[in-house]
Amino acid sequence: MADLSINFAGIKAPNPFWLASAPPTDKAYNVVRAFEVGWGGVVWKTLGEDPPAVNVSSRYSAHYGKNREVLGFNNIELITDRTLEINLREITQVKKDWPDRAMIVSLMFPCEEAAWRSILPLVESTGADGIELNFGCPHGMPERGMGAAVGQVPEYVEKITRWCKQYSRLPVIVKLTPNITDIRQPARAAKNGGADAVSLINTINSITSIDLDSMVARPIVGGRSTHGGYCGSAVKPIALNMVAEIARDPATQGLPISGIGGISNWRDAAEFIALGAGSVQVCTAAMLHGFRIVEEMKDGLSRWMDEKGYASVADFCGKAIANTTDWKYLDMNYQAIAQIDQDKCIGCGKCYIACEDTSHQSIHQLIQDDGARKYQINEAECVGCNLCEITCPVAGCITMLAQENGKPYMNWTQDPRNPRAEVVT
Ligand SMILES: Cc1cc2nc3c(=O)[nH]c(=O)nc-3n(C[C@H](O)[C@H](O)[C@H](O)COP(=O)(O)O)c2cc1C
Ligand code: SF4
Ligand code: SF4
Repeated sequence: MADLSINFAGIKAPNPFWLASAPPTDKAYNVVRAFEVGWGGVVWKTLGEDPPAVNVSSRYSAHYGKNREVLGFNNIELITDRTLEINLREITQVKKDWPDRAMIVSLMFPCEEAAWRSILPLVESTGADGIELNFGCPHGMPERGMGAAVGQVPEYVEKITRWCKQYSRLPVIVKLTPNITDIRQPARAAKNGGADAVSLINTINSITSIDLDSMVARPIVGGRSTHGGYCGSAVKPIALNMVAEIARDPATQGLPISGIGGISNWRDAAEFIALGAGSVQVCTAAMLHGFRIVEEMKDGLSRWMDEKGYASVADFCGKAIANTTDWKYLDMNYQAIAQIDQDKCIGCGKCYIACEDTSHQSIHQLIQDDGARKYQINEAECVGCNLCEITCPVAGCITMLAQENGKPYMNWTQDPRNPRAEVVT
């Protein structure tokens, strides 16, 4: 049976599944029930200076799919709305009762040394295993000079990280905002400041929809609205890319990463780990489906690891990083062609329309004697773009087949068609 336990930047947990700093972790009542069903750790809902933040009503909205499934989730909530004293007391008790689980405390304080110098010893005295610096909240807090307003300025990231390392012995995880052009800049700044790890992503600036009757964006607060933070499965591809960017960057290579963003099942988690995440954090999926989703996550990951022969999480952590490269290093001689499994095809014609209207007109539509339609790939024209495979409603009906063309690997820097003389590296 695979060993799911991890040691993330010196923080031990029985499994890599942590609840992200958010409503699921905002009080002992929630965290205890999460631990009871098996979560390996939590990042406590972000603490701030007293008096606590005040929230509005309403607070959430969603981007729905056709069948009302939630593709993306949007919130305009602030950090904790409870006092420091209550939060610190509850954290102390929960950590005492659950010593084997990772207890990380998320913090957001003004960009002033004195504020950090006074909070850090209080957090340390709770017995918590680490702190996470919330430099990512994109709504409400940036207007007060905190959250994403810090995460967007690498100098501030570095400065506050350094104060935390100076005034605390706890491992410091810097949580990054995705609302920035180049995620590597704040990650490098965190490392320069002495961070033990980074976590990402926090939420993405968003407006999910407009109520066209009242002409107000959602969520509606007394006839007005504001942008919120986007999360849930829709953000997973953005988060994965940002994790990969940091994992691949020579300046931050090896810096532990806690992966966050749209993780809803064991497979999502395994993908983040394959790209270098040493732990994963979940928020929206737990808010939509409850704490028990961790059972499927642990079970699925463990079974898959057994099947693949991975004894521990570290065994496959980062295995996909070397295969993620710059476009110019892709093999220009590689050629794939679509292939239709006629036994599986239901004759819907979706692949034909997609290829005919917007790709390379590489699918023939044949009308048979009985009037039924049959679809065939024109292999000479197919460029292997994957569009038909993506549009086909039948799983496994269209597959992309690599062609044996006998040509060696040749990337764009080596390609005679490249009009710019690039140096081969
Ligand atoms: C309602 C809500 C409140 C949140 N509050 C915080 C917070 O206080 N501190 C923080 O660092 N992140 C906060 N987040 C961001 C999450 O921790 C997480 O980074 C983000 O939701 C992406 O993960 P997900 O796709 O699994 O939800 C919040 C998210 C939501 C939905
Ligand atoms: S892979 Fe692209 S080009 Fe080839 S048949 Fe499908 S849609 Fe057409
Ligand atoms: S989309 Fe798939 S099922 Fe529909 S015609 Fe094309 S191959 Fe057949």
